[in-house]
Amino acid sequence: MSVHSARRGKVTHLELRKMKEQGERIAMLTAYDYSFARLCDQAGTDILLVGDSLGMVIQGQKNTLPVTMEHMIYHCQAVARGVEAASGRAMVVGDLPFMSYQSDLDEAMKNAGRLIKEGQAEAVKLEGGAEYCELVRRLTRVGIPVMGHIGLTPQSLHALGGFKVQGRDDLAGQRLKSDALALAEAGCFSLVLEGIPQELGAEITESLAIPTIGIGAGPECDGQVLVIYDLLGMNEEFRPRFVKRYENFAVRVRTAIDSYIGEVRSGAFPGPEHSFSRVEKSKDRPRAVAVGGVVAESEGRQVDSIGVGCIPIRPLGPKAT
Ligand code: KIV
Repeated sequence: MSVHSARRGKVTHLELRKMKEQGERIAMLTAYDYSFARLCDQAGTDILLVGDSLGMVIQGQKNTLPVTMEHMIYHCQAVARGVEAASGRAMVVGDLPFMSYQSDLDEAMKNAGRLIKEGQAEAVKLEGGAEYCELVRRLTRVGIPVMGHIGLTPQSLHALGGFKVQGRDDLAGQRLKSDALALAEAGCFSLVLEGIPQELGAEITESLAIPTIGIGAGPECDGQVLVIYDLLGMNEEFRPRFVKRYENFAVRVRTAIDSYIGEVRSGAFPGPEHSFSRVEKSKDRPRAVAVGGVVAESEGRQVDSIGVGCIPIRPLGPKAT
């Protein structure tokens, strides 16, 4: 288990508020599938956002607009299972996709309910300002925690004229500040601030009792969020200023695959250690079985079954309480 997760139990909106009060920064990441969610939770990530950014990084769309409720539910389920398979500590937040909440309050309520009920998310996120206060009030009243999202809101890409930094002039900055206050007042438990000047990020953070989570909003926010694939460097062409790369997966993944192809072509893979015999004496059985390049841990026990992909044979780590 990571040192970052060892300290705390299950992350809830109460825990997040406490973190803000104690000046402890919140680490949020996007996740879209079981395997990454499991690793993110093991590493101690506080919040996993199943972002509609999946339209771009998973589906290869130009923007987030084509994402549907069905896509979101499918990915929320996978992420919830990943967290559950690890420590169960991270909070899972599901993004409400474009036009699932904008046109009708009742439909918005139903769609948010589906992310919780079918998707197993623990909270929902929606983009927009004070115009969504009534929806936020209704959702919180029925027990659905809501994370707001203001600034550069990608679902309004066309209205904003592109992916552009927001709130640079005084008037726009004032409008974002009053949106932030209104959403907090309506009951949002947290607010994502995206693509705004760092001074504005700091002012909004100071003015709110709820935690702010920044992405391109400066260091004074109560927490930060990044798209996991950006942090890992999966796309070499995507280099915006607000992203810090902690890995170069594009190169590492290609190198690993290149080695695999080379060994398949040369016949070096599979070797005897990756192959089965018709008759296998029990002392010859492997203590760990590698499938798809992943070694399933056996802790000295004999492994009779074959692991599949990266599904672990034994459960991981203690559960958060
Ligand atoms: O969809 C998403 O991933 C997001 C985050 C970048 C905040 O909204």
